[in-house]
Amino acid sequence: MKGIILAGGSGTRLYPLTKSISKQILPVYDKPMIYYPLSVLMLANIKNILIISTPRDILLFERLLGNGKQLGINIKYKIQEKPNGIAECFLIGKKFIGNDNVALILGDNIFYGNGFSKVLEDSVDYFQNFKLKKSNDGGAMIFGYPVKNPEDYGIVEFDENNKVISLAEKPAKPKSNFAVPGLYFYDNTVIKKAEILKPSERNELEITSINELYLSCNRLKVKTLGRGMNWFDTGTPKGLMEAANFVEAIQNRQGFYIACLEEIAYTKGWITKKELTEIIDKLKNCDYKKYLESLMLLPI
Ligand code: G1P
Repeated sequence: MKGIILAGGSGTRLYPLTKSISKQILPVYDKPMIYYPLSVLMLANIKNILIISTPRDILLFERLLGNGKQLGINIKYKIQEKPNGIAECFLIGKKFIGNDNVALILGDNIFYGNGFSKVLEDSVDYFQNFKLKKSNDGGAMIFGYPVKNPEDYGIVEFDENNKVISLAEKPAKPKSNFAVPGLYFYDNTVIKKAEILKPSERNELEITSINELYLSCNRLKVKTLGRGMNWFDTGTPKGLMEAANFVEAIQNRQGFYIACLEEIAYTKGWITKKELTEIIDKLKNCDYKKYLESLMLLPI
């Protein structure tokens, strides 16, 4: 399965923070925002990743993450010329996706919770099984997460048997409080679906329209994420602060870092102890270095 991180947009709700810099490079406590969605793809065992950003910002991400070799993964970069909508990423990434399934994560979405790695691995396995059978009928897998402000998100409505009835993008009167977070798994037909999409009233290719196409052919699965799961959208100053406070609280309480990319790569065996030592040796004294040093003691 391939992975795409969409780190575009103009971040207008964060103005003036985003006047000269990409939202997805801003700090969430002690790491650039994009570390968090990248960690999610890595936890899903996705190693081929495309980062899409604006002409202004793409170089920042390349400077930050390079070709991914230091993390045992492979990162490519593409530009979205204008904010034409989330679903445009499947057109921009058409060649990159090739004949594979694809996971998309939005660069400003942060996930953290007990059992989440298993949810991710299961989702990828589900699609890989179709691939092994040479079937391109995996459909789409998205998530539903209860929020207090559903009108700010794409939402999903269920009937009494938990069957999905409808989807809507930021409805003024939401029919449910289940938001659809910015993490989506699709079979390869997503490319064809994106190709036939028409721009919405706000002139964007909507991800919700893609999901509606899957729903209309009965190929949409929605997994609800429970109370133990945390999902943050960092698109506003308040959301950004809440996410940073959360990361700080968990890290300082448990001593485990959230979204330490080197830790994920090392514990998955994608980089060796020697390679981790080389990364550590290049760092000047900082808390991140101390954390990486503590990983060397792990029985791997
Ligand atoms: C986008 C999607 C929306 C989704 C949200 C998750 O909205 O359009 O369906 O619920 O991301 O973060 P945006 O926040 O980009 O306006």
